[in-house]
Amino acid sequence: MAYRIAVVGGDGIGPEVTAEALKVVRATGVEIETVEFDLGGARFLADGEILSDATLNELRGFDAILLGAVGDPRVPPGVIERGLLLKMRFELDLYVNRRPFVGTAPGHSRPHDFVVIRENTEGPYVGEGGVLRKGTPNEVATQGSVNTRIGVERCIRYAFDLAMQRERHHVTLVHKTNVLTFSGDLWERAFNEVASEYPQVETAYNHVDAACIYFVQDPHRYDVVVTDNLFGDILTDLGGAVSGGIGLASSANLNPARTGPSMFEPVHGSAPDIAGKGIANPTAAILSAALMLEFLGEDAAARRMQAACGEVPTEGTIAIGDMIAERVARN
Ligand code: IPM
Ligand code: MN
Repeated sequence: MAYRIAVVGGDGIGPEVTAEALKVVRATGVEIETVEFDLGGARFLADGEILSDATLNELRGFDAILLGAVGDPRVPPGVIERGLLLKMRFELDLYVNRRPFVGTAPGHSRPHDFVVIRENTEGPYVGEGGVLRKGTPNEVATQGSVNTRIGVERCIRYAFDLAMQRERHHVTLVHKTNVLTFSGDLWERAFNEVASEYPQVETAYNHVDAACIYFVQDPHRYDVVVTDNLFGDILTDLGGAVSGGIGLASSANLNPARTGPSMFEPVHGSAPDIAGKGIANPTAAILSAALMLEFLGEDAAARRMQAACGEVPTEGTIAIGDMIAERVARN
């Protein structure tokens, strides 16, 4: 039976790169049935819809959601991010944001291979806080970080389960326990307690500022990195930068409990400056679609897609997509 995939091409380069990702998925022979959803900044400008509860409920009926990119410079910051992307992550309980990084960092001679497990439903992203006396000299703004034991633990547990499936069996917790003593303590205790259930997994801890140095200077030390929502957001851009660029960075927003569909999207944004020019690199979208197939249980097809995404001696969105699809179909 064909997998039912909800496709949100979105804004800017989103639709172009998503089309290539679907082309490559089809080249694997895995059967998919797609339904397109017109969502994003352009849709919001057209009729005000961001992500209604009715649309969200429709999305719940799919096996997975493939998203290109959302964001339009004409829409004020926060509207689409909070109303669409974060709403999907929160409402569909996509509590793990899995972002793999394979590449050779500048100045290094061999490739690294690590994956960041970013908590995806809590932290400073929940919108806790507020503003007082706005626009006055005495204005006050607070933005709290929400960390629940259950939310933190399930994410850490996912990281350890993943480490068990990988060669090195190593997990690093990244936080800022020397300053964020309340949330850091919760993370640290949850991490240590889960770790005690996985005696085969080696563990490490890095403060987030030190992790930034290691990502650049010593990325080989990492296997699985687990961290909170905001640290994970920042670290994964850095991860992309040291792994061949953000044009290759893929991500899976996962509901590991499988109470609904998971969502797969490249880490990059809608890049309106190059939209429609046919020059965007579709590799991140293709690799995100590979993560989708892997999560659906199509491991062999996913691995073929990943293998086909190596050196591509060509440029242009469609040419790159064609070349990768051809390689997939041949192998
Ligand atoms: C990402 C993005 C989003 C985030 C934005 C667009 C809300 O930067 O997926 O990393 O901060 O999570
Ligand atoms: Mn980000």
